[in-house]
Amino acid sequence: MGLFSKKSLELLMREADGTDGEPTLKRTLGALNLTLLGIGAIIGAGIFVLTGTAAAQYAGPAIVLSFVLAGTGCLFAGLCYAEFASMIPIAGSAYTYGYATLGELVAWIIGWDLILEYLFAASTVSVGWSGYFTSFLRDYTGLNLPAALTNAPFSVEGTHTLVASGAIINLPAMFLVAILTTLLVVGIQESARINNIIVFVKVTIVFLVIGFGFMYVRPENWQPFIPPNQGEFGQFGLSGVVRAAGVIFFAYIGFDAVSTAAQEAKNPQRDLPIGILASLTICTILYILMARVMTGVAHFSELNVPDPVYVAIAKAGPGLEWLKPLIGIGAIAGLASVVLVMLLGQPRIFYAMARDGLLPAVFGRVHPKYNTPHISTIITGGFAMVVAGLFPIGLLGELVSIGTLLAFVIVSAGVLVLRYQQPNLHRPFRTPLVPLVPILSILICGYMMYGLPPDTWFRLLIWLALGLAIYFLYGRRHSKVQAAERAGTIY
Ligand code: ALA
Repeated sequence: MGLFSKKSLELLMREADGTDGEPTLKRTLGALNLTLLGIGAIIGAGIFVLTGTAAAQYAGPAIVLSFVLAGTGCLFAGLCYAEFASMIPIAGSAYTYGYATLGELVAWIIGWDLILEYLFAASTVSVGWSGYFTSFLRDYTGLNLPAALTNAPFSVEGTHTLVASGAIINLPAMFLVAILTTLLVVGIQESARINNIIVFVKVTIVFLVIGFGFMYVRPENWQPFIPPNQGEFGQFGLSGVVRAAGVIFFAYIGFDAVSTAAQEAKNPQRDLPIGILASLTICTILYILMARVMTGVAHFSELNVPDPVYVAIAKAGPGLEWLKPLIGIGAIAGLASVVLVMLLGQPRIFYAMARDGLLPAVFGRVHPKYNTPHISTIITGGFAMVVAGLFPIGLLGELVSIGTLLAFVIVSAGVLVLRYQQPNLHRPFRTPLVPLVPILSILICGYMMYGLPPDTWFRLLIWLALGLAIYFLYGRRHSKVQAAERAGTIY
């Protein structure tokens, strides 16, 4: 009993309006800021690091098709997110949507699962950032930071054994998280302003790479477009395209972060769908072009490196030498903005969960002067720092992907359920072609989950089990929805 209790939509609306008497977040973001927030979260380690590996190991020039496939899955999921975001424009994103439609237990599972997406993505990308930052310092200032202080003390052997790597700690990654956390405590508007500048820098650099890169393409590099399969699933051929889609899915994560800023949006019902869908569409187009250029300028087999964009442009010869440091700056700024938006999203989910009583009230406290959820921001930042300092990028990245895909599947299922349960609700944005779009979203995202290794599934299950234990020991007993039900009132 109580596990399927739902939060009433009327109360959600009152919370969103701030008419429930609780202190709320400040509404300062418009459609443009929200779109830039999305782009800030999307373009990062995925395109700057993973594209090369995926092309070299799995798909060859057909990596372009992998981007189309993963982008299509995300677009379907994005259309589902947009319906919810316009209908329930309140902080907490998929967690809140789950609470209103599928009940408390599912909501808790999504909320807990989203920690895997936001908090762990912040750590993952800051590890990627640390790599670019240290090589940039070395190449352009001659400063050589010691490897023991710029790498994780653990690495993964095979797919599951953690072994000592010989390094002590990844200090630059921790440093980045610390700075961005401080910025986020001070204010969302300041953070959004800095995000806008960074997005401008990184998108400009992506355009430069695409525009100038195309002039140096050697079409023979695109032949054969789909290299023949090597006899095993995922090693080139069509199955390689699918496996690469699972890997570069990471590059699309972030458009949903727009929905976590719902309560800071000026006109959320109109602007959240715009922010989600515009940022996703723009990035999909840029990714496809960028992948086409990278595999055209360099041969795909040369891209299996931590900095493939840089390597691809180096192949163009002296003509594009000037672009190389700019790419370094683009990656450093670009990855930092991904971390910023992820660190912005997580506390807002905690904030929503604490308001509902599922987490201790301190997670929901809003700073009297800055109007930000400062305590949960600091807790998130502290935890993300530790994870970033200790773990390698590969392990973290796959966990982030599986966690995010699970959230997409549940949100898409939620849209379907609510259409049948409450067909007459006011939906300022409607997902087109229901039930087709949500079903395709579930199938494509589910298929990408299926492609991830068993160890990642195992880690996901452990994480969810830990979450359920906390729910039954704490959340369930403090749930405001359940308390109201017991008292015969509505929450
Ligand atoms: N999409 C984000 C990235 O590529 C998480 O870094």
